[in-house]
Amino acid sequence: MGSVIIGSGKSLPARIVTNDELGQIVDTTDEWIVPRTGIHTRAIAVHETGTDLGAEAALRALGQAEGGWQREEGAIDAASLDMIICPTLTPDAAFPSQAALIRERIGAVNAVCYDMSCACSGCVYGTSTADMLLAASAADIAAAKAAGRPPRRNPLRRILVVAAERLSRLVDWDDRATCILFGDGAGAVVMEWREDADGMLSSYMENTDDADHVLWCDSAFCDRPLPFDAVSDEAARAAAEAPCDPYMRMAGQAVFKFATSAMVRCIEEALSRAQLSPEDVTLYVPHQANERIIRYAAKKMGMPSERFQVTIDHTGNVSGASALIALNEALVEEKLAVGDIALMAGFGGGLTAGACAFRI
Ligand code: COA
Repeated sequence: MGSVIIGSGKSLPARIVTNDELGQIVDTTDEWIVPRTGIHTRAIAVHETGTDLGAEAALRALGQAEGGWQREEGAIDAASLDMIICPTLTPDAAFPSQAALIRERIGAVNAVCYDMSCACSGCVYGTSTADMLLAASAADIAAAKAAGRPPRRNPLRRILVVAAERLSRLVDWDDRATCILFGDGAGAVVMEWREDADGMLSSYMENTDDADHVLWCDSAFCDRPLPFDAVSDEAARAAAEAPCDPYMRMAGQAVFKFATSAMVRCIEEALSRAQLSPEDVTLYVPHQANERIIRYAAKKMGMPSERFQVTIDHTGNVSGASALIALNEALVEEKLAVGDIALMAGFGGGLTAGACAFRI
């Protein structure tokens, strides 16, 4: 028994931005970007909202729009979703949640919704948390049945995890060190508790303090003077009135160091918890932050790089949606089939990191 992925979808914005185009905005070149990152193009949401992207990925995961992947034939009814979890850094609104906005758009009338802020680990934190909730609910439902009473908690059988990101809204387009890396998009999976299938085999999540602010974006809710401030205190008032930085900031090399060690550590932990060897995994589906980080992890794991899914060349880093987009492309391209084992790994601001192994 376990939480099985029964549908997968993605959505990328229409506008493709090349490295040469970025070279017209900041002092950079295709020759600098490609060997250091593996990125050739990224899709930028000029017109699409997070709701547009998330809903399209969700409808594809449900089999209600072309281009998705379903484990079995036939579309999945949005009304059968018990919950929607949306890992995102860039919701369209502070509230309602991004998940609630997607709920409304796709007609998931029975779903309880919330967003999750865990940066680029959203793929792993989202699916792992969904798995934990499904397992807990299955135990609650079984106990209730045995005792002849109703379940004590919301019964959860199907959860949509949909990461929708518009990193373009957090990027400082004058900062060449970061603006070349990121893109927009959404990735989604429908997870269902099944008594007759493995699904999720293991998960591992961790947090490390980002004491040096190596990966940081100030709150969208900037500090501003409140009527309760000591207005006579000039220094306090000046500090409160100072504009906050709306853009993401990153110490590239420090993040690179964290990312390489976290990725390998999390993969090893997820393998060990599932009692798998690296060779048992058909395809590793890592967060797409830098192709060099992915190649490093493959080398450390003693795996050929073809066993690691790479989509960063045309997506850039789409935060929590990256690996869900990469997973969708692997399923649609039949690099993964039912019965295969996949392993997703992520890391990012927080500092968060994690990995999960699952049987398709
Ligand atoms: N184009 C041209 N030159 C650039 C540049 C760009 N887009 N960005 C930085 N440079 C310059 C720097 O200014 C620096 O110049 P200097 O030596 O004259 O000071 C030089 O290139 C080297 O910069 P550095 O930051 O050391 O480059 P790097 O080899 O570490 O590569 C990253 C930069 C961002 C590609 C790399 O550090 C990285 O990928 N880090 C991890 C990022 C990540 O994963 N973030 C998301 C986590 S979820």
